[in-house]
Amino acid sequence: MKKAQITIDKYFLLGKVDDRLYGSFVEHLGRCVYEGIYQPGSPLADENGLRKDVAALIRQLNVPIVRYPGGNFVSGFRWEDSVGPKAERPAKLDLAWKVVESNQFGLNEFMAWTKEVGTQPMMAVNLGTRGIEAAKNIVEYSNIKGGSYYSDLRQKHGVKDPHNIKLWCLGNEMDGFWQEGHKTAMEYGRLAQEAGKAMKKIDPTIELVACGSSALNMPTFGTWEDTVLSQCYDEVDYLSLHQYYGNPNDDTPEFLANSLGMDQFISQVVAICDFVKAKKRGKKDIHLSFDEWNVWYHSHEQDTKIEPWSQHPHQLEDVYNFEDALMVASMMITLLRHADRVKIACLAQLVNVIAPIMTSDTAAWKQTIFYPFEMISNHGRGEVLQTLVQSPTYECSRGDAPYLDAVVLANDDETLTIFAVNKDLAEDLEVSCDLRQYEGYQVVEQVVLHHPDLKAENTEAEPLKVVPQKAHTARLENGRFTVVLGQQSFQMIQLQKQK
Ligand code: AHR
Repeated sequence: MKKAQITIDKYFLLGKVDDRLYGSFVEHLGRCVYEGIYQPGSPLADENGLRKDVAALIRQLNVPIVRYPGGNFVSGFRWEDSVGPKAERPAKLDLAWKVVESNQFGLNEFMAWTKEVGTQPMMAVNLGTRGIEAAKNIVEYSNIKGGSYYSDLRQKHGVKDPHNIKLWCLGNEMDGFWQEGHKTAMEYGRLAQEAGKAMKKIDPTIELVACGSSALNMPTFGTWEDTVLSQCYDEVDYLSLHQYYGNPNDDTPEFLANSLGMDQFISQVVAICDFVKAKKRGKKDIHLSFDEWNVWYHSHEQDTKIEPWSQHPHQLEDVYNFEDALMVASMMITLLRHADRVKIACLAQLVNVIAPIMTSDTAAWKQTIFYPFEMISNHGRGEVLQTLVQSPTYECSRGDAPYLDAVVLANDDETLTIFAVNKDLAEDLEVSCDLRQYEGYQVVEQVVLHHPDLKAENTEAEPLKVVPQKAHTARLENGRFTVVLGQQSFQMIQLQKQK
């Protein structure tokens, strides 16, 4: 059996996990909103049309923030169309996804929904087809108590108290040629600075996220971050990253090695943020918002067949398999290993659209990727320890990829949590760690996500094919921790100090 080693020191802390690392994303896209979180008239919905079964699953995921309303959608969106009496709201063409948006669910419905599912909003403004004026008006509508045009309008719309939205995205993927109102880095950087300035004048307590690159392989990556941030450093608090991976050539080792690309992406963006800070003799660090990440490729072919200008079609409905769940676990471990600088991250998306939760008219079920997210979101809180991983490797196009991905966290209640993925498809991996500093600790929980078939999926007909199982094989004896990670598996192991 191959062997790997994890080394930690209880005093070598990387940083505290910001709860917002476990965010997600609801875009007006396909059936994410309509038939996903909102389906008036459904026996599964409450009196406001919110799907109760979906809300219950979202609560299990423990998602502290949800980005909204896009995504590409936001770059052509007039937020004013989505508020006020529903009968008067216009149906509009959404050029991003070539569909018709009815605007029957909008800003105020979204805010009511966040309360239902126990989350906070991360609101995006349109800096594609619109600009400073619309951005400042939506902040006024959302965050000012009353006594001004837009705050009074909110009250007229039946919402007495301000929403107090604290986190705002300055547009979406403005580096992408596919974006409505796509801009050069200089054009966008200036606009972000001026829109941000106006928004913060209205509410100085808000935080702002500027658009970084929409993927590591964008030709403008690097210069985009530098130019944008050099313009808007004073106003913004975070720079965004987006990244999706797929396995179109059915090469699982190569697919799973993509977490190395994510790791490189984060390190390089951190370096650019620090470079701009140095150039500016800045006082503040710009932190990272990885506000779109996931596996996305299964639905590409099927999406080419969608009839243009339909309403909420089945779009981007990736059906995830077991290897995708391993990849999601690995991406989350990568985010945790950068918890000192990545403060916000959003699994894109939440329901039906490249999502952990799927719905039909009669049911909601958990895709395979639901489980690693749920396990890590619920247990990956506290302090991340600097986690040195020594692992055998395999060759891939990125160089040598370690079979083992792992991270260790220390929680306040004297709990150590280990998340680990074994990417070896043929062999188990024995992992050990010297835990002599953790006297009196014992293994209290071990949960394994494994399936012999990498392509196994959870579907409405068979929703429980891939589910986590409890295990009892991890040991802590004489200060030495050992666990065998089965081939192609993800594990969570928790140790706790015994009273
Ligand atoms: O999440 C799907 C899409 O991916 C988003 O709308 C866009 O921002 C990204 O390209």
